[in-house]
Amino acid sequence: MTKAQRYEALLPRVLALLSGEPDMIANMANIASVLHETFAFLWVGFYIVRQGELVLGPFQGPVACTRIARGHGVCGAAYAQAKTIIVPDVEQFPGHIACNPLSKSEIVVPLLASPRCVIAVLDIDSDTLNAFDDTDRIYLERILQECYKVLC
Ligand code: SME
Repeated sequence: MTKAQRYEALLPRVLALLSGEPDMIANMANIASVLHETFAFLWVGFYIVRQGELVLGPFQGPVACTRIARGHGVCGAAYAQAKTIIVPDVEQFPGHIACNPLSKSEIVVPLLASPRCVIAVLDIDSDTLNAFDDTDRIYLERILQECYKVLC
């Protein structure tokens, strides 16, 4: 299966998981789990905005940093810019926070309440270089939009 086909197959599962469950933590936990299971990513998880900084939320994978300041690392940059960031090689990203030395590339997608209002970010790390592209961005942004819809 191509990556797009795997995401297409995943979407109905995600919608079913979110259906009828308004709790953000429960939904983040299951989204992290299905993404981790489907793609065998190194690390999949959420950082939640709390008083202007990112605090570790539900995740699957190795132990991670608990707090990330706005503007710091890839997660903090996605939070500050309120947009998805794809990093093909984490060593080339100035200020990358190396929670795990096995992480080689990553994508961070903001969960938006409105175009500038970030509630949380979804961070996915891969142990291979250049693992993420526009296909990931499009589907992950869609999944987070669905996630936001059930919160309001
Ligand atoms: N790589 C992230 C830090 C979080 S961990 O990888 C789980 C960053 O630079 O924002």
